[in-house]
Amino acid sequence: MSNLRVLVVGASIAGPSTAYWLAKAGAKVTVIERFPELRKGGQAIDIRTVGVTTMRKMGDMEAQVQANKAPIEGLAFVRENGRPYGVIGSTGDSDQQSLLSEYEIFRGDLSRILYDKTNDNPNISYVFGEQIASLQHDEKNNGPIKVGFANRLPPAEYDLVVACDGATSRTRALGLGIGLRDHTRRLNIWAAYFSTKHDYVDGSKIGHAYNAAPGKVVAVQTAPEHEGGNRVVVMRMFPRDGKDHTLPFRDAQQAGDEVLKKHVREELDGMGWIVPQLMREDMDAADDFYASEWIQVNPPTLSKGRFTMVGDAGYGGAPGAGTSLALAGGYVLAGELSQSRGDVAAGLKAYEDRIRPIFEDMHKLPPGGVSFMAPQTKWGLALRNFFFAFLARSGLITFMQKVWGRFEGAFASSDKYPLPDYKFDGRL
Ligand SMILES: Cc1cc2nc3c(=O)[nH]c(=O)nc-3n(C[C@H](O)[C@H](O)[C@H](O)COP(=O)(O)OP(=O)(O)OC[C@H]3O[C@@H](n4cnc5c(N)ncnc54)[C@H](O)[C@@H]3O)c2cc1C
Ligand SMILES: *[C@@H]1O[C@H](CO)[C@@H](O)[C@H](O)[C@H]1NC(C)=O
Repeated sequence: MSNLRVLVVGASIAGPSTAYWLAKAGAKVTVIERFPELRKGGQAIDIRTVGVTTMRKMGDMEAQVQANKAPIEGLAFVRENGRPYGVIGSTGDSDQQSLLSEYEIFRGDLSRILYDKTNDNPNISYVFGEQIASLQHDEKNNGPIKVGFANRLPPAEYDLVVACDGATSRTRALGLGIGLRDHTRRLNIWAAYFSTKHDYVDGSKIGHAYNAAPGKVVAVQTAPEHEGGNRVVVMRMFPRDGKDHTLPFRDAQQAGDEVLKKHVREELDGMGWIVPQLMREDMDAADDFYASEWIQVNPPTLSKGRFTMVGDAGYGGAPGAGTSLALAGGYVLAGELSQSRGDVAAGLKAYEDRIRPIFEDMHKLPPGGVSFMAPQTKWGLALRNFFFAFLARSGLITFMQKVWGRFEGAFASSDKYPLPDYKFDGRL
């Protein structure tokens, strides 16, 4: 049997990890990425539940993640003068994690580890600065897909196309034949990320988050040692009242980074702490500025013919669990395809049957919702700060974190969503 030819679209987290597992299963994989290089930037992200399970199956991956962990040991909400109301830490148990994961790693570092693990495999090739221009399903929807590319790759046929290009995936729209926004739900939140040259928190291993009502939060954390400065995330949360509050953000996004930065600046106008200086000096100078709206993706089906999706492209928007799902998705896809022995349609169906209940569970918002992060009113914010200080000081937070472990989703213990031990014999 000849190798399954697979095109993976996107080289962030889901893309490289899907390529890793598909190659183990015996496929020949091409990964294309729209950007000219691997993307850096982003805050520390978490590896939890199914992400931990999958990571432990990837050779020395866990050791590499440990060796590259972000310098973060606690989280604090801070006052106008930068003094914390209180600090909370992690649980110290990787199978039962809290708000602060045991595996906090900068997104770009995780992406780099996955890329390095796959790039030297002769059955995986990366092409940067490329994207799909056209995609044509086989007439019976069960044969190879014809793909045309936007830049330098010649048109080619693939036995499987896997979209791993994030929550706003264009490939999803092409592959399923739907609109860009179809089957997505707005959470009425946007976030922007950038890094600074200056270190505002003196190398502190505590992530500092500063709020203003309504719904604004700016979090600053120490960057990796070789970078010196800080990583910043700005979040704007609006009430979930059914109105479309992020339209101005999306309009600004359409108009390009300059307009988008201006929009971010205007939204944060009047905030204290170091925010004015961050806006004035750091955001413009950053070479890794990235901003996106938070949406939940839940298409009625993950596949059409020989097309499917892994990670945010297929099921983005699980609070705290996006990266973990992106890691697990590729493993389950390759595992099920392996088991179905060349019956791609059966493999794709088995993949969906296994991953859908997990991501639908993880799409549930944590108790109290995400509004805890950025309350909408001054009164709500004062109350949050009061409770946070009380919980942190009394030690009750440790107890609360254990309680959270009983819930679904990102805070659940690792064994809540068991994954099969697939055998990969390279015969796909
Ligand atoms: C630069 C960046 C910073 C981020 N920072 C954070 C953060 O701080 N905290 C957090 O929780 N999450 C962050 N995220 C999102 C987080 O990485 C994902 O939620 C999660 O890891 C799932 O990853 P994914 O691989 O499915 O999708 P994503 O990480 O969104 O990756 C999608 C990839 O596809 C590429 N791409 C997009 N469109 C196309 C196309 N048409 N053709 C080819 N390639 C395409 C993108 O450039 C990107 O590399 C960030 C994402 C990016 C890209
Ligand atoms: C690449 O694919 C070939 C053909 O299936 C296989 O023999 C070989 O072991 C693969 N190489 C790696 C590193 O997986």
